Amino acid sequence: MGKLDGKVAVVTGAARGIGRAYAIKLANLGASVAVVDINLKSYQDFAGESIGEKYETVVDELKDLGATAYGVEADISNQQEVQKAFKKIVENLGEIDVLVANAGGGSGALLENVASEVDPQQLQLVLERNLFGTIYSVGAVVEGMKKKGYGKIVTVTSVTGLQANLGGSYSHYAATKAAIVNYTKNLAQDLGPSNITVNAIAPGYIGTGRLKEQFEKADAGFYTDQTALKRLGTPEDCANAIEFLTTDLSDYVTGSVIDVTGGLLR
Ligand SMILES: NC(=O)c1ccc[n+]([C@@H]2O[C@H](COP(=O)([O-])OP(=O)(O)OC[C@H]3O[C@@H](n4cnc5c(N)ncnc54)[C@H](O)[C@@H]3O)[C@@H](O)[C@H]2O)c1
Repeated sequence: MGKLDGKVAVVTGAARGIGRAYAIKLANLGASVAVVDINLKSYQDFAGESIGEKYETVVDELKDLGATAYGVEADISNQQEVQKAFKKIVENLGEIDVLVANAGGGSGALLENVASEVDPQQLQLVLERNLFGTIYSVGAVVEGMKKKGYGKIVTVTSVTGLQANLGGSYSHYAATKAAIVNYTKNLAQDLGPSNITVNAIAPGYIGTGRLKEQFEKADAGFYTDQTALKRLGTPEDCANAIEFLTTDLSDYVTGSVIDVTGGLLR
């Protein structure tokens, strides 16, 4: 018996990286899992992502785990595409119980976009993807959750949404992730009376197929030395927090931000 047997979960941006680990975790907990991604084969962009060795997409991987799984391509920064994608999910899997609004990310180099020199075009792109994308995804599930009188929503911020980056760099991304924190807290107040919990996860330096090599190359120890645990995080470390936030373990937790950073200090 899985803790999420009979539940329908959606993870956005799960074609690779941390989102993939969330989808696998939810499938292993017994949920039917839908993956929304702008490109279900996005793992092909990074040699460090291993899905392609065995599966065409993460959806096949989830099915191989015995889960009912469904994949749909949509750009989460486009409200119409989001609404269409979630409608298809409901038609195929049923009303949604769990949303992990994970799709997101920055643009440009990590040391660019210092706070006084933000590139407006990059800010626009990242704002639409991170904040609007989260809000559109939430908008597509709330009605169904309210009808059920049950729901678990997890948004994805970042440690950079909670504190400044060294030298104020990558501030366009950081500002959108900070906005997600505040939005999450307001959403929790709004949806609490409907028995829908809303929390955020704030990953630190997570060694995904996209980033592991970059982190390791950048400077031996530069990233890991900033953590209490002296190592990079893994997508599975983040997925363990998702287990807490999407199951009854967190029924009295809402409006919270769970920091999965290995004790990042700055
Ligand atoms: N990896 C880290 O160290 C780290 C740290 C803090 C926060 N985060 C956050 O965690 C989340 C996942 O990070 P990751 O490292 O796995 O990212 P990633 O770039 O490896 O994967 C992101 C996935 O989202 C999809 N995606 C991107 N834009 C999209 C859009 N507009 N519509 C639909 N899908 C889209 C991509 O195709 C990709 O499959 C992101 O929100 C990221 O900001 C990551």
